[in-house]
Amino acid sequence: MNVDSTSNLSFFLPKQPEIGKIKNCDGQSPPVFTPLKIRSMSLNNRLGISPMCVYSSSIEIDNVATEFHKIHYGSLASRAPGLIIVESVAVDPIGLITPNDLGLWNEKQATSQFNQITQVCHAFNTKVGVQISHAGRLASSAPPYKNFSYSLKETEGGWPSKIIAPSAASFDPQNFPTPKKMTITEVKEMIKKFGHSARLAVKAGYDFIEIHAAHGYLISEFLSPLCNTRNENDEYGGNWENRIRFLIEIVDEIRENIPVDMPLFVRVSASEYMEGKVPESWTINDTCKLSLELYKHGVDVLDVSSGGIDKDGVAPTPSKDTISSHRALPHEFFCEKIRETSKELIIASPGRIFTGPEANRLVTQGIVDIPLIGRAALKNPGIVWTMADELNVELEQAVEYGWPF
Ligand SMILES: Cc1cc2nc3c(=O)[nH]c(=O)nc-3n(C[C@H](O)[C@H](O)[C@H](O)COP(=O)(O)O)c2cc1C
Repeated sequence: MNVDSTSNLSFFLPKQPEIGKIKNCDGQSPPVFTPLKIRSMSLNNRLGISPMCVYSSSIEIDNVATEFHKIHYGSLASRAPGLIIVESVAVDPIGLITPNDLGLWNEKQATSQFNQITQVCHAFNTKVGVQISHAGRLASSAPPYKNFSYSLKETEGGWPSKIIAPSAASFDPQNFPTPKKMTITEVKEMIKKFGHSARLAVKAGYDFIEIHAAHGYLISEFLSPLCNTRNENDEYGGNWENRIRFLIEIVDEIRENIPVDMPLFVRVSASEYMEGKVPESWTINDTCKLSLELYKHGVDVLDVSSGGIDKDGVAPTPSKDTISSHRALPHEFFCEKIRETSKELIIASPGRIFTGPEANRLVTQGIVDIPLIGRAALKNPGIVWTMADELNVELEQAVEYGWPF
């Protein structure tokens, strides 16, 4: 008996069903396992894999994706998430967080990501997007599995003298270099680089793009009054409208470089956790206001994260009570505020989502549309299947894995 194969693949794979789609459930489908359409992209369920760098490409081979990325993303894609957001991928070599990040500034990198990432995700009918980024003043760091929060010197393979940011202010003067302040020409060139990278992402076969505007990297440095101390006469500094301009122009540039029906996500740090510590910082009120602007400029999904901009800006530690009762996940309050302001934006958010009931509660209560799973997916690439079991739902699974159950 012949087994039908998935066509146009560089390897043999039995033809797959719509993995992640609900097959059977006792009673009404839990909202987290219902489909969602964003522009032309249809998701089989609402659970997403949060972007997570694996720092496994090599600078000697031009920051391309390797067989490891195929194993890593393939094992996630074959186990039923609604979508995967591929880790931070730099738009420019100076913008790599570490020398081992993926890059997306040339054709070779687009081809490697098609061969090692998007092709395998699509073979399992899983939607996959990429997070494009520039690390700004946090570039040239060591991979955290080697040395956490360590800035590499030239002799260690770093590029400290080339680091750029909106202003010449170091993340941590004791341990991080002082970046060069970007000129207006450099700012405008960088906006083009994001557009070029998005165009390459389309070529690489991604279904959607996420702009990384969080965690203290370049775009969030422009947003933050703490890092962006350019003056009012500079169109990218000073007042709020000027500080958001870099991100808004990147959104416009990317929209011009991707198909009209392709969804666009933006990840933000909803707060930099510096309220009360300094006179002015980026707060949830700024994020709410920004969400309206982003929607006007064609952003579909706001991915709500937090922190990373200042080393003293640390999220309050959740109490034992809130963790054990699963009542308040770290970004819940921010998502609720954004939802009150922006009715149309779809909200995604990560942060300690470890069980099916937790993820389902967020969707049922209308707080988050796409719960994102981070660390739990590193530990268990079948976490979405586990969550479905916890909610008594049977999902379509990969041909090879589903039949014995
Ligand atoms: C190993 C690792 C790498 C990460 N890399 C990225 C990244 O590339 N881009 C990003 O926006 N967030 C990154 N994050 C943050 C995650 O996407 C997620 O927001 C965070 O881990 C919180 O979710 P969790 O509690 O489910 O792990 C990373 C987190 C981890 C653990």
